Amino acid sequence: MASSTTSRPAFSRWLSASNDITQQFLSIGAQPDFISLAGGLPAAEFYPNAAISEAMERALSRWGSKALEYGPVEGFLPLRQHIAERMSRQAVRSFTTDNVLLTVGAMQGLDLLGKVLIDPHERVVAQFPTYVGALDAWRPRSPSYQALDWDVDGATTADALRGAKFIYTVPNYSNPTGALVSIAARQALLEKAMEAGIWLVEDDPYLALQLDGTAVPSMLELHGRMEKTGSYQGPVIYLGTLSKSLVPGLRVGWAIASPDMIQALVLAKQSADLSGSMLTQALALELLEAGLEEAHVPEIVRHYRSRRDALCAAAATELGEWFEWEMPPGGMFVWMRSRHPAIDTDALYGFALSEKVAFVPGSAFDPAGKLRSAMRVNFTRNAPAVLEEGIARLAVATRRYLGSNC
Ligand SMILES: Cc1ncc(COP(=O)(O)O)c(C=O)c1O
Repeated sequence: MASSTTSRPAFSRWLSASNDITQQFLSIGAQPDFISLAGGLPAAEFYPNAAISEAMERALSRWGSKALEYGPVEGFLPLRQHIAERMSRQAVRSFTTDNVLLTVGAMQGLDLLGKVLIDPHERVVAQFPTYVGALDAWRPRSPSYQALDWDVDGATTADALRGAKFIYTVPNYSNPTGALVSIAARQALLEKAMEAGIWLVEDDPYLALQLDGTAVPSMLELHGRMEKTGSYQGPVIYLGTLSKSLVPGLRVGWAIASPDMIQALVLAKQSADLSGSMLTQALALELLEAGLEEAHVPEIVRHYRSRRDALCAAAATELGEWFEWEMPPGGMFVWMRSRHPAIDTDALYGFALSEKVAFVPGSAFDPAGKLRSAMRVNFTRNAPAVLEEGIARLAVATRRYLGSNC
């Protein structure tokens, strides 16, 4: 008898162009003795578990079965109101609930944007290297990509934008590079997006993780400086989340956009999940109203700063011969570029795994998969001593790799 697998129809074509790197680094992190510098994960030991458990009790007694129902596709109305007010303060302009969609993390916002904006082979202009999750989310839509040049003067950017569908950016402490984009470059890009009449996606999960320097206004705020009044109709689609500033397990994020874009995203969301979890959205409201995020962020920022410093100091000693990097002013990652022409980080990855350490190879952040001269290293998840050990293992792996026939 033929095996049942041989007679099954093929999976959809986009799957053959996919990779399981995110799945891999989430499961690698759970293996004992393994040091994962791969995931973009917060430090779990600082999660405010007791405060969350108390807030959950309050949420249930406050909202009762309302928190246990299917809810509106747009999300739990009191939390939408809270987010509208928060974003109005942050961007110094007025948003209403018509500008807010609650999502299952910012990741769902990216997925829904792919559904409502990308038809096959349409062009996305994306900050390069590009967040792997966005590339994963949009792969089934088969977009083509063009790298965004943040040039302030901008002839090349203006040309690139013509005919594109939207621009994708992570201007605060980018994933994977950790870079912070200047106000001049943000302003110039916003103006060019408006001239070209295309959407501008501002994905901002790392806003709260400012380790040094001063914050730069979001493009949503810069738009508000131009058009302070009236219902928000601007080109910026802003994605926020509580994953990095509080806990990722809430799976609570939001999109801020013009009402027509929110409505399009709602149509895409209803077929994705009917509605997000009212329970975690009611819990998130409770946490935010109690000021838990404001209390938590300074604590994690202090730890993340010393972790970043420890990782960079260890890397300067152990890896400086082979890699170079800039110290990121915030976020979760150091982007290491090889100085050595023979280093291919896809190949180095296998050597690193055998030394029980993981990073994310640069190719994951390239729509064409060709960026093999860099790697992303996370500094938030592990304590300084573990980071130092991880970097030492990476040095052993690099030495072994270069000593092989690479
Ligand atoms: C740039 C970027 N966007 C979106 C996300 C998804 O975050 P969330 O946990 O809110 O879905 C991440 C997570 O690492 C990210 O780095």
